[in-house]
Amino acid sequence: MTKRRCAAPLTTRRISPVTNREIIICRDGDELSRKAAGQFVSLARQAIAAHGRFSVALSGGSTPKALYSLLATGEFNEQLAWRQIHLFWGDERCVAPDHAESNYRMVKESLLSKIVMPSDNVYRMAGEKEPAVAAAESEAQLRMHFHIEDDTVPRFDLVLLGLGEDGHTASLFPGSSALNETRRLVATTYVAKLNAHRLTLTFPVINNAAQIAFLVAGESKSAIVKEILTTEECNYPAARIRPENGQLTWFVTQDAARDLAI
Ligand code: 6PG
Repeated sequence: MTKRRCAAPLTTRRISPVTNREIIICRDGDELSRKAAGQFVSLARQAIAAHGRFSVALSGGSTPKALYSLLATGEFNEQLAWRQIHLFWGDERCVAPDHAESNYRMVKESLLSKIVMPSDNVYRMAGEKEPAVAAAESEAQLRMHFHIEDDTVPRFDLVLLGLGEDGHTASLFPGSSALNETRRLVATTYVAKLNAHRLTLTFPVINNAAQIAFLVAGESKSAIVKEILTTEECNYPAARIRPENGQLTWFVTQDAARDLAI
C-alpha cells in the first residue's frame, strides 16, 4: 500500500493505524447533535455507575452549541444526573466570561442557564485573567478534581472536540507552541492569525481520555476531514488526537464527509 502524505507542514510522524476510531456520518447538524446527545447520556450513566461521577471537557466554537441546547431539553435533561456531572472546557478564548467570543458564555446560554446544576461542578477557564495565571488556575482545578499530586495525567470520561479548517482542535493550532507541551495539563498559546491568546488542554490530557468525540459539520470542513481521516501519516493537530487507551468517535455531517469514500 503506498503511503500518502497529507499537505501538513512540519515533520511527519509514524502513527499507528487507528483501530479504536468510529466514524458516524449524520444526515445533518440536527442528527449529529442527537447522536452526540445520546452518547453523552449513555457515557454519563456508565461513568456515574462505575465511579460516581462523569467528568467532561466541553468543546467551544459553534458546532457543539446545538448539542448543549439539546441536553437542556426535557428529553435529555431528565436523563442526566447533573449533580454528578462535572463540566470543564477543552479550551477558551482570552476574553471575559460575558464576551461574545467566550466559550463559557456560549455554554452558559445554551445549557447552564437552562438546567439545575451545582455551580461547584462548573470549572470554567478564566479567560479574563492573564493567560499564564488562568492556565495555572485551570491546571490546579484539574489536579484537585482528579486528586493528582505528581505528574499523573487526568483521565476525563469524555472530551468533546471540534475541528478547524486548518486542522486545529481545541486551541491546538498548527505551529503553536502548545503542540509540544508534554508537562503542563493546560497551556496558553498565541494564535498570530487570530491575533489572540488562547487557553487549551494539552495533548497528553486529551489523549488520556476514556472517550473523545469530534463534532464536525459543514461543507467547509470536507477537505480537512478527508485529509485527517484518510491519510495515515498526518500531522495536523486534530490528527494527533489518538486516545492512548480510549475510544475515538467522529460525528460528521454528510456535507463534511462528502469526500470520504465511505
Ligand atoms: C474554539 C474551539 C475550536 C473549534 C473549531 C471549530 O474555541 O474555537 O474549541 O477548536 O472547535 O474552531 O469551530 P466551529 O465549530 O465553529 O466550526
